[in-house]
Amino acid sequence: MGWAMRSVEVRGVTKRYWAEAGEAFDALGGVDLEAAAGEFLAILGPSGCGKTTLLRMIAGLEEPTTGEVRVGGRAVTGPGPDRSVVFQQPALLPWRTAAANVAFPLEVAGVPRQERRRRVAELLSLVGLEGFERAYPHELSGGMRQRVDLARALATRPDVLLADEPFGALDAITRNAMQEELLRVWRRDRTTVLFVTHSADEAVFLADRVAVLAPRPGRLVGVVTVDLPRPRDRTSAEFVALRREVLDLLKPGSRGHAPRVGG
Ligand SMILES: Nc1ncnc2c1ncn2[C@@H]1O[C@H](COP(=O)(O)OP(=O)(O)OP(=O)(O)O)[C@@H](O)[C@H]1O
Ligand SMILES: [Mg+2]
Repeated sequence: MGWAMRSVEVRGVTKRYWAEAGEAFDALGGVDLEAAAGEFLAILGPSGCGKTTLLRMIAGLEEPTTGEVRVGGRAVTGPGPDRSVVFQQPALLPWRTAAANVAFPLEVAGVPRQERRRRVAELLSLVGLEGFERAYPHELSGGMRQRVDLARALATRPDVLLADEPFGALDAITRNAMQEELLRVWRRDRTTVLFVTHSADEAVFLADRVAVLAPRPGRLVGVVTVDLPRPRDRTSAEFVALRREVLDLLKPGSRGHAPRVGG
């Protein structure tokens, strides 16, 4: 936890899984990708192209087979308080209320009770869940659980936020509201964000750059720079053109193309 601006560098990273039968499966086949300190990078790609695998390696929850991941210039050797993960399947403690789940990383970090209370209230309101402080995860909808998980991940004000489709289960209106709140926090805390999504619209709305991956093996097919001022107008010609560019990269036909933009 801290206020340092940290870059994320993924250099020549591959990930090979071994099936029970002993067959090799290459989930990632050599990815080079970089997020500058304070950058908002979206990662987009079809199911199974290795997005979660990539995030887990940056989080230090999994080791690359070859290559290296560096955060803030230092090689990742395991999880650390500088990075928070919003998991694709919300990782809430079932025996804790929403408020107590958000408070958990603050307790671990030794944040005093008063400050904890203040931050938990602020975060739950940020994700639109005021009034649900005392609800348990099983009493919340999937989308509400995702929002609690996002609040939990933001609680320690991490230098790097690794978010794996955090808004996947939300309706369009809630999703748009969450996107705006996340941008507000990103701007305030100068967090480096790596944000996995299936939505080209969401990627172009949020990110400074959009990295597009293709599967088998997972690899980078291109990076689109979104050079539009915020707040962005989804209906503008520029927005629509950039979304189309991202969607074109997602088409199976574009597989194997060299990245247009480096890093
Ligand atoms: N622990 C594992 N053991 C074996 N294979 C795995 C393991 N984890 C992931 N894989 C394989 O690696 C590939 C990439 O998986 P990953 O979960 O990273 O994809 P993804 O891009 O996040 O997909 P989705 O969009 O569906 O979440 C998949 O083919 C998956 O089957
Ligand atoms: Mg995934």
